[in-house]
Formats: sequence, C-alpha cells, structure tokens
Amino acid sequence: MLDKNSFLTGDLISLRGFQADDLPGLYRWWDDERVTEFLEMGARPTRDKDASAFLELARESDDAVVFAIEEKDGGRVVGTCGLFSIGWICRRAQFNILIGEPDAWDKGYGREAASLLLGYAFNKLNLNSVQLGVNADNKRAVRSYEKCGFVHEGVRRQFIYCGGRYHDTAMMSVLRDEFLAD
Ligand SMILES: CC(C)(COP(=O)(O)OP(=O)(O)OC[C@H]1O[C@@H](n2cnc3c(N)ncnc32)[C@H](O)[C@@H]1OP(=O)(O)O)[C@@H](O)C(=O)NCCC(=O)NCCS
Repeated sequence: MLDKNSFLTGDLISLRGFQADDLPGLYRWWDDERVTEFLEMGARPTRDKDASAFLELARESDDAVVFAIEEKDGGRVVGTCGLFSIGWICRRAQFNILIGEPDAWDKGYGREAASLLLGYAFNKLNLNSVQLGVNADNKRAVRSYEKCGFVHEGVRRQFIYCGGRYHDTAMMSVLRDEFLAD
C-alpha cells in the first residue's frame, strides 16, 4: 500500500517518500533539456532500467533516503531530493536535488527542501556533515545552496562535461555544528 503522508513539512513544500507512481514525472524531468542544462544526466533518453534503479534505491537502500517534493498549494509533485551514500560510521551524506518543473524554479522550493533535509540529517539521523557537488556555472543552484547554509569548500576542475564543454564542480558542505549554531 502506498504511503502518501508528508514526512517533512515546510511553508511552501513538503517532502514524502518517493513512490512508484511518481515515476512518470521522473521520465519527464530527466528528459527535459532545460532541467539537465547543467547536469551530466540527459545524455540519452531515460530508460525503464534507469527509472527502476532510482525507485529501487528509494525503496530498498538503507544508505539513502529519497523524497518526492510536493507543492503545499495543490499537491503537485515537482521533483525529488534526498540524502545518498549515507555513512553510518563517518556520519556524512551526499545531498541531491532536482526540481523538474521549470515553472517551480526560483520560488524558494529548493532552499526550503534543502533546509528541511539538513534539519532531518542532523537532528534525526545524527549526521555530522552533508556534502554536495554542483556545476559551478549553475548559478541558481549555487545561490539556493548558499542561502540555506552550504559553505564553499573547494573546486574540482573541469569535472563535469555537459553542453559541449567541461565545467568546474563547486564542492559545498554543511557541518553539524554550523547548522545547529544558527
Ligand atoms: C537548482 C534548484 C534545486 C534550485 O531550486 P530553486 O527552488 O529553483 O531555487 P531557490 O528559489 O531556492 O533559489 C534560487 C536563487 O537563485 C537565484 N538565481 C536564479 N537564477 C540565477 C542566475 N542565473 N544567477 C544568479 N542567481 C540566480 C534566484 O534569484 C534565487 O535567489 P534569491 O532568492 O536570493 O533571489 C532547482 O532550480 C533545480 O532543481 N534545477 C534543475 C536541476 C538542477 O540544476 N539541480 C541541481 C543539481 S546540483
């Protein structure tokens, strides 16, 4: 039975577990070149096995927590986010987010989703740090992460290939102490 309960709730969006009937959105988002402009994904049309692997990760992995992002106003699912490669001894995780509906960008959804996930990571899972890597030319993403407390920690040079050239990856993180001090 599907559980559609909101798990983390903000003012603009809520996060709930990613479910099988969220998959049609995934195909649409991953195949939209506006969404993948700064990403390495989108190099080929999404295959069933790609979408199934994502669902499998969401359903089965104990080292990932994967959410659907739902607008509070109307309930539309606009993307996904989550914590991945969670290390239960080192107590760190990788943050990923994709808002796949372009008309949902720049409304603060990304910032709120990241803030909710950071609170969950530090207060509920007792993690010590959360990391991400982002195309340094993805100004919207970098700005959104900065707003919720991610700190620049370095650059991986010419790391991402997309749009016909290489881009640097900005490495960013939030430490537990920093987050809890705010
Ligand atoms: C990146 C993403 C998660 C950001 O979420 P969002 O809800 O659109 O962003 P937010 O509303 O939280 O913040 C965006 C900020 O960037 C600013 N911004 C937008 N375009 C910008 C640009 N070209 N240059 C500088 N700032 C820009 C906005 O004005 C806003 O800042 P402000 O609130 O100070 O005005 C979302 O747009 C997305 O998923 N995009 C497609 C996939 C992607 O790139 N994922 C990230 C992979 S690392």
